[in-house]
Amino acid sequence: MTEFATPRGTVDILPEDWPYWDYVIETARRIAELYGYRRIETPTLGEVSLYVRATGEATDIVQKEMYAFRDQGGDDLTLRPEGTAPVVRAYFQHGMNRLPQPVKLFYIERMYRREAPQRGRLREHHQFGCEAIGSPDPGVDVEMLALLVQFYRELGLSGLELHLNSMGDGACRPAYLQALTGYLRTHQDELSGLDQGRLSRNPLRVLDTKEAKSRDVVSGAPSILDYLCEPCREHWNAVRAGLDALDIGYQIDPALVRGLDYYTRTVFEFQAPHDGAQSAVGGGGRYDGLAETIGAPPTPGIGFGSGIERLILTMKEQALEPPLATGPRVYVAHLGADAATVASRVSTALRAAGIVTLVSFGSRSMKAQMKAANMAGAAYALIIGEDEVEAGAVTMRDLETGAQTTIPASEVVRAVVS
Ligand code: HAM
Repeated sequence: MTEFATPRGTVDILPEDWPYWDYVIETARRIAELYGYRRIETPTLGEVSLYVRATGEATDIVQKEMYAFRDQGGDDLTLRPEGTAPVVRAYFQHGMNRLPQPVKLFYIERMYRREAPQRGRLREHHQFGCEAIGSPDPGVDVEMLALLVQFYRELGLSGLELHLNSMGDGACRPAYLQALTGYLRTHQDELSGLDQGRLSRNPLRVLDTKEAKSRDVVSGAPSILDYLCEPCREHWNAVRAGLDALDIGYQIDPALVRGLDYYTRTVFEFQAPHDGAQSAVGGGGRYDGLAETIGAPPTPGIGFGSGIERLILTMKEQALEPPLATGPRVYVAHLGADAATVASRVSTALRAAGIVTLVSFGSRSMKAQMKAANMAGAAYALIIGEDEVEAGAVTMRDLETGAQTTIPASEVVRAVVS
């Protein structure tokens, strides 16, 4: 034991977890590439002002969750709280707006938010995310949702629900906000204290309240879908028609507003069948106004982020197992100084042939070394003692059957492979 441990809300990813991580990451990458997305990685450090402007001044992320600091040179930096703003920044910084549009980018990155840690909610988490920048076509929205459906299906997940909504745009949202605020104000006393605070800062957030006291009021609130302007309504109808054509099921959820300010039109979330605040395994939407908020020309975009920890949690809940990592095939045991040199030479030859090999270290009894070989799960033990060194040979034991043969040292690779 030591007096140190991981900071609150962060975890070590241990060797036994890695088969899950490798499987999810490999699947994510394969599916993203199938749909023509190319990988990008932005720095973990970013400018605070980028997130204030893109993610939104009134969001939880900016108000209380960023790991922000002023560095020794006076720059205001933060650990990346979310992936969209820096990818859109990179799109312009590297002139991707001059490429054929949309430009499709994916990332697998760590995010940092100082949230209250819970099961499935961490202060450092990983997201697989995709961003398609440069096209307003509702077909891009539909293709992105098809990608996510295929990704979750290939992981083996079942029972996920797709929640879908439209947030309108700068033309129609103000009238909705006015109606919503008016309605909530007349029912202010029936809202929880937390939601009364939200009402003044960010009334949309009241819609996805988890507070029992506010539920009745919220369920009677006006729906954004009744306020969409003609272009937003057309977009909404086209997205739904596209999903219907692909037989992708969804639930229309006018209370789905998401926690970031940049969304316009389509927003969505995939929810796992377990209850609670951590049920969202992925979410995203359109952000047609984001580019302008960071001083770039108006450029539409859409994306999602899917939390890898939550995906693995859901896989475990559904008893889904990833393919096993390759364990050692050979364990090389030896007794005596000369034998150690032969062991080192033999194991180097095995590894050069691509065979996973462990070598014993220190001077331990042959019995202890055989025990270690079994515990490591090796298929074969190679035994090198004084007799073997003298004869230029190696004894090979099949650890499953116990069968043992002595072979010339130069034949070891061929014997193990066959
Ligand atoms: P988000 O909904 O904040 O969206 O995060 C996306 C996903 O990341 C969530 O659905 C969840 O699976 C996972 N996630 C979020 N916070 C945590 C946490 N504290 N612990 C564990 N998992 C978490 C975004 O970040 C947007 N950038 C998504 C997007 C991309 N929208 C457009 N493009």
